[in-house]
Amino acid sequence: MSNLLEIDNLKVGFKNSSSQWTNAVDGVSIAVRPGEILGIVGESGCGKSVTMFSVLKLHDQRNTRYAGEIRFEDTELLTVPEKDMRQLRGKDIGFIFQNPMSSLNPLLTIGQQIRETVTSHRKHLPKKEVEALCIKALDDAGADDSAVWMSKYPYQLSGGMLQRVVIAIALVNEPKLLIADEPTTALDVTIQAQLLKVLCHIRDERGMSIVLITHDMGVVAETCDRVAVMYLGQIVETASVDELFANPRHPYTQGLLAATPPMVGKIPERLNTISGSVPQLSEVAKGCRFASRCPFASQECLSGDIPMFDVDEQHQSRCIKFNTIPDFRKVTA
Ligand SMILES: Nc1ncnc2c1ncn2[C@@H]1O[C@H](COP(=O)(O)OP(=O)(O)OP(=O)(O)O)[C@@H](O)[C@H]1O
Ligand code: SF4
Ligand SMILES: [Mg+2]
Repeated sequence: MSNLLEIDNLKVGFKNSSSQWTNAVDGVSIAVRPGEILGIVGESGCGKSVTMFSVLKLHDQRNTRYAGEIRFEDTELLTVPEKDMRQLRGKDIGFIFQNPMSSLNPLLTIGQQIRETVTSHRKHLPKKEVEALCIKALDDAGADDSAVWMSKYPYQLSGGMLQRVVIAIALVNEPKLLIADEPTTALDVTIQAQLLKVLCHIRDERGMSIVLITHDMGVVAETCDRVAVMYLGQIVETASVDELFANPRHPYTQGLLAATPPMVGKIPERLNTISGSVPQLSEVAKGCRFASRCPFASQECLSGDIPMFDVDEQHQSRCIKFNTIPDFRKVTA
């Protein structure tokens, strides 16, 4: 089956106040398959949001330059005119932003905001059908009484309920792809778990693909089918979730896993951390971008750009020592 979204060698550059360009995303290639939940994981600032914002061309066009290709079905998005992009945003591709509360208008009821999302794309839909779509979207997002929620203002709902509203707005036009950027980060763990279940339910019920951006390996384990690990503007490892957790083949992925509390059993008193900190984009040197923090780094890692290597057909790693590095969770245990 062909991919729903294909990002090929995407580079996203931003111009700073001294008119210099820096690539925040540098050669990212990812495919999203129909009906899958793909996780994008990595530390803060590694380029997760910039990559997925680019799919909808949400960056300020004056200070941003793109290279590469982003294909959604048969459409090349980087060359699509803005008026066609407006049709795609919120219709074929839904987006849940990192700070969802700010995407609701406090002066309008929930019903007004969901209806407006439908009618902005389908002006001539009969009122009854609009209403039915809104109620179904709220039901699918886990509202306990959708008709009542429709009449409420945002201030009358809790954070968890508002997040369900934001999810309903993102899916009311039945998009083929839903991009969720850290949709549960600001919520407590119980609500977080409920909302992740909602996302899985939506995928099962509607068959849409979901890209879930997170910095949390636990969320990936609970929710995703496949995962792409990002570091400093690049993908460093992709695999199915089961394979990545069982056989991580990039030292950065191993570090993230070693820093994640175990899903079962006793949580150790101290979790391992990855030594050092993420360098600035402007400090990126020749060779492997992870070298300054990597316990296995050697001279050969610094000689040139590191490509992605096939661990197998479904598993890639951007590490020249992918087949010799030990699993350092075992080394540090
Ligand atoms: N509009 C912009 N102009 C200049 N630099 C930007 C812009 N947006 C993002 N960046 C830079 O691009 C890099 C990647 O940012 P991005 O927001 O994608 O990180 P992230 O992985 O989503 O992190 P987080 O987990 O904190 O959300 C960062 O260094 C950030 O400072
Ligand atoms: S290429 Fe070298 S520095 Fe980079 S992750 Fe692999 S071993 Fe570490
Ligand atoms: Mg982000």
